Amino acid sequence: MSAVLRIAVQKTGRLAEDSLTLLKECGIELQTGKVALKSQAANFPLEVLFLRDNDIPAYVDDGVADIGIVGLNVLLERGKPLEIREKLGFGACRLAIAVPRDADYDSLDSLSGRRVATSHPRILAEFLKQHSVNAEIHELSGSVEIAPSIGLADAVCDLVSTGSTLISNGLVEIATVLRSEAVLIEGSSALEESKQAIQNELLVRMKAVKQARYTKYIMLNAPNESVQKIITLIPGAKSPSILPLAASGWSSIHSVVQEDDFWDVITALKAAGAEGILVLPIEKLVM
Ligand code: PRP
Repeated sequence: MSAVLRIAVQKTGRLAEDSLTLLKECGIELQTGKVALKSQAANFPLEVLFLRDNDIPAYVDDGVADIGIVGLNVLLERGKPLEIREKLGFGACRLAIAVPRDADYDSLDSLSGRRVATSHPRILAEFLKQHSVNAEIHELSGSVEIAPSIGLADAVCDLVSTGSTLISNGLVEIATVLRSEAVLIEGSSALEESKQAIQNELLVRMKAVKQARYTKYIMLNAPNESVQKIITLIPGAKSPSILPLAASGWSSIHSVVQEDDFWDVITALKAAGAEGILVLPIEKLVM
């Protein structure tokens, strides 16, 4: 029987949809249904297990799944380290401490002697220790933000993404404990060669998808005397392509630009004399 790599992903929750989208963008076709707990890809040797996020590290550690997609927060909260193979660039959120909006204890130091509700007791305990804050940790498995309003705790430490859950519960952030995102994890034992080859191929695809998300294709026209300056602004993966335009004294320059720098680069390009700037999304980028 030919080898099949097993990957564990969240069945429901903040990473579930984006994990499946990533696999789809890697060209992997899956049949998924509301009740299916596993699915075999039609066109790639991959089986997907749909699990509760807290269970994913243990399944990977035990070798039931070869790799898994999980939030960094879940991985660290488990305590037992597992190899992070790749940061996946989605599911960004932060684990933050928040207090009631009108509380007179609104700094980290002022939490000493107070109760903090959280579903991340291990990470919080470490953070409080590092900052010499002697607070009591009250562990809850969910609905953490409600704890202060029902008298269960003075503060909370929970995941924040848009911040709307904190606002709707009358809470304000006072400290960031951890910045989290989705990560690809693998077990400590080496995979058999055929599975390792599948994992390597999957990683190449995941990196290509991730690169493409961060990068835009850019085309522009510029007078020839501006070309050297523009090349320094958009050096691209290796170097830009430069094509002569039909209009004499002008060139067309093609390159790639990082999403993070995008607006600064556009401003600088215009100042350098670029015209007709066209920016396109990239579907995949293999470096
Ligand atoms: C998380 C977290 C908060 C909420 C924050 O819950 O526990 O309740 O998201 O998101 P926001 O800042 O965008 O409002 P999640 O929906 O992941 O489910 P959980 O209750 O199982 O943790």
